[in-house]
Amino acid sequence: MARAAALPPSRSPPTLPLLPLLLLLLRETGAQEVQVRVLPEVRGRLGDTVELPCHLLPPAPEVQVSQVTWMRVDATGSTLNVAVFHPSYGPSFPSPKPGKERLSFVTARQSAATGQGTKTELQDATLALGGLTVEDEGNYTCEFATFPQGTGRGVTWLRAIAQPQNHAETQEVSLSLEPVPVARCVSTGGRPPARISWLSPLDGEARESQVAGSVPGTVTVTSRFTLVPLGQADGVKVTCKVEHESFEEPVLLPVILSVRYPPEVSISGYDDNWYLGRSEATLNCDVRSNPEPTGYGWSTTSGILPASAIERGHQLIIHSVDRLVNTTFICTVTNAVGTGHAEQVVLVRDTPRASTRDVGPVVWGAVGGTLLVLLLLAGGSLTFILLRMRRRRKSPGGGGDGGRGASYEAKTQAFGNGGPVYRMPTAPGPPGPDGKDEEDEEDEEEKAEKGLMLPPSPTLEDDMESQLDGSLISRRAVYV
Ligand SMILES: *[C@@H]1O[C@H](CO)[C@@H](O)[C@H](O)[C@H]1NC(C)=O
Ligand SMILES: *[C@@H]1O[C@H](CO)[C@@H](O)[C@H](O)[C@H]1NC(C)=O
Repeated sequence: MARAAALPPSRSPPTLPLLPLLLLLLRETGAQEVQVRVLPEVRGRLGDTVELPCHLLPPAPEVQVSQVTWMRVDATGSTLNVAVFHPSYGPSFPSPKPGKERLSFVTARQSAATGQGTKTELQDATLALGGLTVEDEGNYTCEFATFPQGTGRGVTWLRAIAQPQNHAETQEVSLSLEPVPVARCVSTGGRPPARISWLSPLDGEARESQVAGSVPGTVTVTSRFTLVPLGQADGVKVTCKVEHESFEEPVLLPVILSVRYPPEVSISGYDDNWYLGRSEATLNCDVRSNPEPTGYGWSTTSGILPASAIERGHQLIIHSVDRLVNTTFICTVTNAVGTGHAEQVVLVRDTPRASTRDVGPVVWGAVGGTLLVLLLLAGGSLTFILLRMRRRRKSPGGGGDGGRGASYEAKTQAFGNGGPVYRMPTAPGPPGPDGKDEEDEEDEEEKAEKGLMLPPSPTLEDDMESQLDGSLISRRAVYV
């Protein structure tokens, strides 16, 4: 495949009449010197056989190849001949490393006749190297010695790569305040070393280490995803991403974190409507923990559980509510790591709350109430907007109004963050003259600030509450 790529086009496409002409020109000029085509870089996997293509260009019949030599520069800087091909004497592999056991010319053939008029076929000096090792890496020069033109050469960088094996695993940890590794990702035997990164919704840090792989020249990379393990990290998915030039795309290895933590407990089921005689009231002990809880226990602040309360695992069932239930319940949960508990104050009423027997209407009542409040707020702000708009339209000073409006807006924005702003509808600022200077504006700002700090007049307070609240929202909605 590489050889095919390295070959010159044997025939120009007929559709391009200009190209043969150009090629002809190239040949003419190129005929003066020997052109050698090689690949700039060849990558092979450790242990595999690689081919280093090398061709004489152009394949002109009148050129006599006297000899082909493959050389490499070793670590000390001296040039070694690793493979030689002579048209009459055939191949020779003078250097011990890589020696003749691992080297061969792929197509170069010794001429059948050794006498005069030998027509050399030695225009493809592609070299095959078997059992690629790390020591074979280097720059190899392919040199054609020809007559009568002389020599030409090309250099190929041979690289040995090794595809790493990857795996990732969670490292079960217990709750701590120090950062610890919670997941590990190992890329074994890569050359060059694999690049490891982590994709995570949690803020963690990758700690990487490298050791030599079992095959010489390879590297095993270990990356540990490290963070302060809190209960929230338990069950979170993080992904180890391994990148290597031998992969078409990065390898993604998901890991589910496991943090052991004592039970986080809460109690549900109390609806603030436990009354004397109510049947089937239930408290649930809700737990998050790792590992799973080993036991639940119910008690009260006084120590004893009322006779009417029955423990059933994470539930406490009260068949009939009596005065003894008027207490604070505690749920205690234990797992292998520790213990957690939660409390629930139960207030027993003499009669049912409101006039409702079941929960449904209570919930709907609550929803309705919220809606009503929202409607009031919306109505209030609408009224306010309308009032304001009318006031603005009425306000004198035409052109100046726009400018004032803008600066006013800036101020309300600045002061309006958070709490209600009391200054607004009753006190329209003194209409400043047009073209007032900066000092005036500062003055006004001060006044505005003071105005903000003043409490509203008591008569206004009650009426304004919802309006002011709403006005804050509506002002933003209108101007922003
Ligand atoms: C081979 O040559 C290239 C540039 O031509 C250089 O970047 C590379 O480091 C060389 N390789 C070795 C092993 O010397
Ligand atoms: C429950 O206790 C509270 C005080 O903690 C008390 O006000 C209330 O009357 C008690 N309810 C009953 C039914 O005894």
